[in-house]
Amino acid sequence: MVKRKVELDTIQSVYSALSHRLLGSGDDFFHGNEKNVDFLLDLVTRTVEKGESNSLLILGPHGVGRTALVKKVLKEASKQKSWVENAVIVELNGFIAIDDKIALKEITRQLNLENVVGNKVFGSFADHFSFLLASLKSGDKDSKPIIFVLEEFDTFCNHKNQSLLYNLFDIAQSRAVPICVIGVSCQIDVTELLEKRVKSRFSHRHLNLMHFEEFDKYLEMFQAFLILEKSNNVSDFQVWNKMVEKTFQDPQIQNFLEDKLFIYDKSVSFMRQFLHSLLVCMLAQNEQKINLELFDAALQQSCASFSVQPLDNIIKDLSILEVCILIAVKHITEIYDHEPFNFEMVFHEYVKFRRRRLTNLTEERSVIFKCWENLIGLEMIIPKVSGEKCRSQQAEYILNVFHIPVTTLKKSVEKYPHCPTEVLQWLTSSTHNSASFS
Ligand SMILES: Nc1ncnc2c1ncn2[C@@H]1O[C@H](COP(=O)(O)OP(=O)(O)O)[C@@H](O)[C@H]1O
Ligand SMILES: [Mg+2]
Repeated sequence: MVKRKVELDTIQSVYSALSHRLLGSGDDFFHGNEKNVDFLLDLVTRTVEKGESNSLLILGPHGVGRTALVKKVLKEASKQKSWVENAVIVELNGFIAIDDKIALKEITRQLNLENVVGNKVFGSFADHFSFLLASLKSGDKDSKPIIFVLEEFDTFCNHKNQSLLYNLFDIAQSRAVPICVIGVSCQIDVTELLEKRVKSRFSHRHLNLMHFEEFDKYLEMFQAFLILEKSNNVSDFQVWNKMVEKTFQDPQIQNFLEDKLFIYDKSVSFMRQFLHSLLVCMLAQNEQKINLELFDAALQQSCASFSVQPLDNIIKDLSILEVCILIAVKHITEIYDHEPFNFEMVFHEYVKFRRRRLTNLTEERSVIFKCWENLIGLEMIIPKVSGEKCRSQQAEYILNVFHIPVTTLKKSVEKYPHCPTEVLQWLTSSTHNSASFS
């Protein structure tokens, strides 16, 4: 059998087929996250089909896929017959609707009620809002179900008296009209910003989206982005898919992705950007197969345009104390077999080292804690729980995880300018030796 290769014109049609997926609004491609899709789809379907009202917050860092999830669910839902006939969607963005007056205007526009409202003057926000909802009713028929999506939900909390949020949650709770309010925010403790009367009307349903914790899932997503379907109209799509699958099975490629991408930026946004650069490099270099050199070239390109800092650079800018905290974290994760750890454990490990080997470093708790917070800010140490749970717990006891591979950390710390020998020795000492330091 003659083995078929991916032809150059295939690469061109692959690029045409994938460029929208990698550069466009992203509406046409969604992978994974099935549990959240099902959960949210069920919620909005219940509003539309059964008239149940609800409210929910989707929380998570930027680029994690909160908007993509909502879009995917609304797209799926719109395939249902009852949805097409009935549902009304109102999408607001807190960066644009900066006060409730603007928000109301936008809601009126999206509900096609501008003519109905005309020049009417309303006594209060609530009057105006209920007029809009009542206008949606046609004759004696039940109210139409409305799905409200509030992007940058936290900014709506700054609106005077939080009138819009109060009214939305009040209607959802009292079930006056079937509505589902979906708030999207990167502020994990956003409910703390809600006034008491607003908070008490919110259902306290949350979906917390997090960046990939496991490399396997990250790798799977990477591959999914490149896999083509018949509908993509690339004649050789099966040959291409086989090549892609083989590429991602290669341990060298896997290591590259884990050490050079996964630990710096786990966002899907960056993944898309990187893969786009990869395809551009393939085209530019006339390459028909993805290889390590292409990955390297694509990384250079996307780092330049995405301002990703290599670990070396980040570590170079840390204070020696912060470097020591990182090393203490490394030892703690080794001693406890990668179990989550808290500040107390790391502080204790650091103090043991400092007292034995480098007494000119400080042991002042508040200073070390500041360094700790800095490392969390840089996402080198990542809190395991978030939001309300975090608040109720004393900061020193919150559990954290460390995601930087030991070998990468070692290499970067070794490049740290004028690193004291004691610190370097501590870095390379094994868990067993580290114990003997104490
Ligand atoms: N599960 C997914 N499948 C495909 N693309 C995704 C997925 N999650 C996120 N993306 C893409 O990653 C980018 C960032 O996601 P986005 O939803 O805008 O993040 P957020 O709203 O949380 O800031 C978007 O281009 C989006 O299309
Ligand atoms: Mg978004």
